[in-house]
Amino acid sequence: MALPRTLSVIGAGQMGIGIALVASLRAKIPVVLLYDHDPSQITRGLGFMDKLLAKDVSKGKISENDAKAAKARITAIASSSASASSNDETNWARELGERGTDMVVEAASERLSIKEGIFRALARNLSKDAVLASNTSSISITKLAGAAVDGLVTSVSRASEEGKSCAGRVVGVHFFNPVPVMKLCEVIPGLQTSEATLEQAKAFAIACGKEVSTSKDVPGFVSNALLMPFLNEAIMCLESGTATRDDIDKTLRLGMGHPMGPLQLADFIGLDTCLAIQETLYEGTHDSKYRPSILLGRMVDAGWLGKKSGKGFYDY
Ligand code: 3HC
Repeated sequence: MALPRTLSVIGAGQMGIGIALVASLRAKIPVVLLYDHDPSQITRGLGFMDKLLAKDVSKGKISENDAKAAKARITAIASSSASASSNDETNWARELGERGTDMVVEAASERLSIKEGIFRALARNLSKDAVLASNTSSISITKLAGAAVDGLVTSVSRASEEGKSCAGRVVGVHFFNPVPVMKLCEVIPGLQTSEATLEQAKAFAIACGKEVSTSKDVPGFVSNALLMPFLNEAIMCLESGTATRDDIDKTLRLGMGHPMGPLQLADFIGLDTCLAIQETLYEGTHDSKYRPSILLGRMVDAGWLGKKSGKGFYDY
């Protein structure tokens, strides 16, 4: 299966940076990395990439030339609206259309309205062959495909041939944090995803050095339908006073061999992201086992988002 000759990654948070890095370093694909208006974020992200590449060189995992070539394959461009607006007529999408791209991986915030706006803009501006992938942790791929069809220049019905062909190019490629380290990419076909798109998504993930698992398009897919209730239960244990933070994490680390305790892992993922995923699970299933804990909501209200904000269950 042919790999994309060019890739665009939308969003330069921890996931977008990681995906751009593995695509460039391992799959050797030129990447356009789109970041939103905060220039400090991209400076931090590119600096972090340099550190990871330098570490791999010093450990003899890659040569200095490999590191230089990987960095040279990444072009970062600013966008005032890629992750902040649901407006279709966005300059960033026009620019991607003009540059031409075979595949896009959207790695913006885990909010349906943001992702729908991006998929509408992508369908309107990109070539009719481009694969439109999302790194969403929980949002329906079929829903994002519907938004893409709604974004086509000439509005078409979702069931028309053109609508089906557009929806057929939408797929989920769910990477795990830290992307350079975690060995899996979960690939999710929506109801209308074509076999060719699914195979391309798998080939891309494998070229990025990942093993692939496939999940149906259900809320949270396999990974977060299992992980999030576990993290939430740990937060509820803390909330109810069953054990202290340190004892909860120690139990899972030392008793069960997890690399991180669940509260540390929730901080690492981002408490806002955990809450957004849990809300999608709860709203998508109406099953009380997915109800987010009150403490998690309060912490997000307080701006305690985990590692990225300097405070979560731990201080950083
Ligand atoms: N980015 C890139 N590389 C990183 C990194 C980061 N943020 N943090 C650590 N690493 C690398 C280190 O450089 C080191 O690489 P090396 O072996 O080549 O030297 C390697 O990872 C091990 O790092 P450390 O020795 O410093 O630390 P640990 O042994 O404690 O490992 C960890 C760190 C890999 C993060 C480990 O604690 C771990 O596996 N934690 C669990 C992570 C996890 O579960 N991730 C999935 C989250 S769920 C998700 O992403 C899905 C979403 O939808 C919510």
